[in-house]
Amino acid sequence: MKDTLSKIRETAIASCAAAKTVDEVENLRVQVLGRKGELTQILRTLGTMTPEERSEVGKLSNEIKTELEAALDARKADLEREVIGKKLSAEWIDVTLSGAQTTEPFERGHLHPISQFQYEIEDIFTSMGFDVLDGPEAETEHYNFEVLNIPKHHPARDMQDTFWTEDGNLLRTHTSAIQVRGMEKIKPPFRVIGPGRVFRYEATDASHENTFYQVEGMMVDKNISVANLIYFMKTLLREIFKREVKIRLRPGFFPFVEPGFELDINCLICGGEGCPVCKQSGWVELLPCGLVHPNVLRSGGINPDEYSGFAFGLGLNRLVMMRYGITDIRHFLSGDIRFLKQF
Ligand code: FA5
Repeated sequence: MKDTLSKIRETAIASCAAAKTVDEVENLRVQVLGRKGELTQILRTLGTMTPEERSEVGKLSNEIKTELEAALDARKADLEREVIGKKLSAEWIDVTLSGAQTTEPFERGHLHPISQFQYEIEDIFTSMGFDVLDGPEAETEHYNFEVLNIPKHHPARDMQDTFWTEDGNLLRTHTSAIQVRGMEKIKPPFRVIGPGRVFRYEATDASHENTFYQVEGMMVDKNISVANLIYFMKTLLREIFKREVKIRLRPGFFPFVEPGFELDINCLICGGEGCPVCKQSGWVELLPCGLVHPNVLRSGGINPDEYSGFAFGLGLNRLVMMRYGITDIRHFLSGDIRFLKQF
């Protein structure tokens, strides 16, 4: 019996080493150790043996079983590793290959013209010491109107047609909503801008969208005056249009500034001669601005007897239109790839 066992062991170990696939290993396992396997058959006859024989054969069989199981497991693991290795080298892809080698022609995308312009404006202002703030697009009435000196039922609310949500909040109608949120976080002196998307419930035409972009700006310090406002606006426009631009201030009403202005630039399309873009006036209305109203400073926890400030609200879409001579604001959100490819 001992000889038979040794033979089984020898043959099984040799077959195991020679196995070429995981299936072959598993078949061998069944052939030797399975319910009807060679070793199992021998173990079943233990009851017919003398106690000495039983002890000897039982011990030897268990040793062979343990040795064989370890050899089968090791061979199986080796073969599995081999399979994975082969698969990896066969299915390897070079992710650095250029698009030209793919079947579809590859075209690189780019930033939307509004985003390009927004980042450019952020760069100009950060180079002048401004920080960039953010705020939520879904706003509360408190930040969009009340703290900006526009209480409930104030007629100025009609100037900005509003998308209300069912729970009494709204989609912000202007980036001025970022102002008091900013003041609650930072203390004067400060210079900040707040670019972002705003929404108004209005019919669209060539120069009006229901979803557009603004850049809010605000500077609060001691003795800030209209002279500071004009300086920063002229610097911004010179940087954007790469030349000196003539500006003029007209009175404008916004409850959150006092005095309030509309800042116009001399039309860059016709040089002030008069054209359809400036409606023959020679001037283009560009950005409303003014000195921050004392009530707004108070809402932000700032003492208006100690500090003053200016604020402005730049309409980003219209500025991009001026720069590139775009005649309809609705192109920006049209999703027309032919339009976007031009920038
Ligand atoms: C405001 O939104 C004020 N919050 C701006 C402000 C800030 C004034 C700080 C004073 C101090 P207004 O509603 O005029 O103001 O909008 C500002 C700019 O956004 C406009 O000059 C225009 O360029 C742009 N704008 C307004 N409505 C639309 C619209 N429907 N579509 C596209 N651009 C618009």
